Amino acid sequence: MCGIVGAVAERNISNILLEGLKRLEYRGYDSAGLTIIQDGELHRERQVGKVQELVNAVNKNPSFFDGRIGIAHTRWATHGEPAQCNAHPHVSGKVAVVHNGIVENYAPLKEEMIEKGYSFSSQTDTEVVAHLIADAYSQTNDLLKAVEQVTPRLHGAFALGIVHVDNPNVLITVRLGSPLVIGVGIGENFIASDQLALLPVTNRFMYLEEGDIALITRDSISVFADGQPVSRPIKELDAKQHNADKGEFKHYMLKEIYEQPDAVARTVEMGVDLKGFKPEFLSRHEDRLNEVRHVQILACGTSYHAGIVAKYWFESLTRLPCSVEIASEFRYRDPVVVDHTLMICISQSGETADTLSALRDIQRRSDAKDINGFLSLALCNVPTSSLVRETDIFLPTLAGVEIGVASTKAFTTQLAALMLLVLKIGRVQSRISDDTFSKMVTELNNLSGQLYSCLKLDQSIAEMSDKFEDKKSTLFLGRGIQFPIALEGALKLKEISYIHAEGYAAGELKHGPLALVDKDMPIVVLAPKDSMLDKLKANMQEVHARHGELFVFAGETTQIESDERQHVIHVPDVYELLAPIVYSVPVQLLSYHVAVMRGTDVDQPRNLAKSVTVE
Ligand code: F6R
Repeated sequence: MCGIVGAVAERNISNILLEGLKRLEYRGYDSAGLTIIQDGELHRERQVGKVQELVNAVNKNPSFFDGRIGIAHTRWATHGEPAQCNAHPHVSGKVAVVHNGIVENYAPLKEEMIEKGYSFSSQTDTEVVAHLIADAYSQTNDLLKAVEQVTPRLHGAFALGIVHVDNPNVLITVRLGSPLVIGVGIGENFIASDQLALLPVTNRFMYLEEGDIALITRDSISVFADGQPVSRPIKELDAKQHNADKGEFKHYMLKEIYEQPDAVARTVEMGVDLKGFKPEFLSRHEDRLNEVRHVQILACGTSYHAGIVAKYWFESLTRLPCSVEIASEFRYRDPVVVDHTLMICISQSGETADTLSALRDIQRRSDAKDINGFLSLALCNVPTSSLVRETDIFLPTLAGVEIGVASTKAFTTQLAALMLLVLKIGRVQSRISDDTFSKMVTELNNLSGQLYSCLKLDQSIAEMSDKFEDKKSTLFLGRGIQFPIALEGALKLKEISYIHAEGYAAGELKHGPLALVDKDMPIVVLAPKDSMLDKLKANMQEVHARHGELFVFAGETTQIESDERQHVIHVPDVYELLAPIVYSVPVQLLSYHVAVMRGTDVDQPRNLAKSVTVE
């Protein structure tokens, strides 16, 4: 989604803005632009395509962009196609604005501004904000006041960066529903949609609350909530956790796949050691977790798939009923939420608009006493995100920063953390026996080693991926607890290789998708040695009988072997309940290699964004 960077300093900030935009590329975008104030004028450049196009354009005339204050933006089109005229910053007279999010009531506001004589050169909702601020400034002559007047008129979720030619030491920012962080420097300050953008210039950050407006100069940051000054703490980041370097890897995605054994080990260690739970793990929340009678999981995309795995775990290990739903559906269907529900919101970014809105709706119902004993938990990779701030309990995934748009280590760490949570609730409520618990702890401690073993399959998987290069469509099959991994495998393949893929519960084959099977249809099967294996083998026979070609990730002792129409890669045998975590790795590697072979943009697939901050 759109990315914002802004700076006010005593040095030329154009390279800081451009480097910041490059670091936000992972969020997904289709055009980029920047505006710098120089000698009492706004200097603007905007380009469709990659940030590098913008860099090239700026480099043609660097002295023109030599300024001490400016704002920059990567745009992911919502209102109006990707075009130079729609790229940000948008300018009205002496005001320039960058915007992330959506202004839902822009149409009537636009009409009002047209009636007042303002003309529009874009189809965006943002341009109306620039005109509104310019108009308010013409009456107040005070940029902060102008922004404070305009903000309540805007409906929707958004973050803004604003500069004005007559205020060459003032950068104003607004956060209302979209992420925005202030980077605190020495004699210089910055804003960005993600702290990653600013790591080359600072490791100190101030996180704004929803509704905050900040007036930022070179050496001061004043934050206002409802017109009153408020103070927001400054936090220092550990640079190691936020290493965003590709290192020796060709793509971030591959690096992140390889980081999984460590990331999962870190996440497991947060909760357990060889002896059992660490004393501090969720200990503050034990009383409330003891009250939980129903679990409702909400998430989108890959995070939703983690939620489906957790449903299997919750119900089989704790016998607590668990529902999982895509947040964008849940929020619009007036759902029943029973008393003593634990709502688990899973989100890598913690800024996914649909997940946040679904949570807020239910939180409002709980505040109005429509639901008793409601408890919310964020399972999230970004401790400073909106989701974490707005939930009762934060369970972190310790994946480290994930840059590739296709989620890999965020997913497997979500699974590891979910298993910890299932065990915690099960033990607090005495629903899990000592034996089961100690078996699970042993297996969790083995997990990292099993993930390492899986990475050794990389070369064989790369060779297998040859067979997918010219395919148009594929199916991923799994049964039981591997069904969500089939869904995840299909999502990974389609999003980065652009091959149509569907995940199916193998038992569903004969209820429809079998009609698709012919000799040209590759079918990927997840076949660990588990309680569903015999059933799955029967489903594989159904494919064989229709001359389908099978690509099977099979447990070592499953006795599934390669033949002419069946290509098998053996995965080390693994404990059934944790097998979804291990089998995620081969499907990620397969998707990765197919995408590389097809020459797609693996880390930034077309039309997608890492952080989906609009609904
Ligand atoms: C796919 C992927 C997406 C995200 C989805 C939700 O690889 O990453 O499907 O899982 O956009 O994002 P978060 O987890 O940030 O809420």
